[in-house]
Amino acid sequence: MPTDGSNLSARAVTQAIAFARATGARLTTLCVMPEFLVRPTAGFTLPESMLEPVRKQLEAERRAKCQAIVDRVCTDAAAADVACGGVLAISDAPCEAIIKQATKSKCDLIIMASHGRRGLQGVLLGSETQKVLTHSKIPVLVVR
Ligand SMILES: Nc1ncnc2c1ncn2[C@@H]1O[C@H](COP(=O)(O)OP(=O)(O)OP(=O)(O)O)[C@@H](O)[C@H]1O
Ligand SMILES: [Mg+2]
Repeated sequence: MPTDGSNLSARAVTQAIAFARATGARLTTLCVMPEFLVRPTAGFTLPESMLEPVRKQLEAERRAKCQAIVDRVCTDAAAADVACGGVLAISDAPCEAIIKQATKSKCDLIIMASHGRRGLQGVLLGSETQKVLTHSKIPVLVVR
């Protein structure tokens, strides 16, 4: 069960926990953080010695946010007597990280919300959900 910490994702989490409880399943929840990107502006970029502390600081902040998101899921799961493991990943392609982790954790099913942080906004499915549905060989349950 991937989660981006959004309200829509949280609603899917509630459903996934109920599903896991009913089926006696174990949950793995994953939060994917973006990679640190440096875009040179007009050919100008900072030297590596100056970038490194910024990179470390940003990564620590992102890691803490992601950890809080998966911890929240696991706390809710524990309250429903569902075993849960939280995983963090760094990638600019959450869909790839989601499929990779589901394969690694030998998941039987991926449960995710139709939309996430950007919200409903008229599109049928969020882009990550769409890509997971397109590429996953593991069954996917989309919560709407
Ligand atoms: N960084 C992430 N880490 C873990 N799960 C994610 C991440 N981003 C999205 N997801 C999962 O995908 C679901 C759908 O989010 P998605 O990103 O596809 O839609 P969106 O944010 O509404 O639109 P957009 O296509 O603009 O990102 C989320 O509810 C969540 O389960
Ligand atoms: Mg999104």
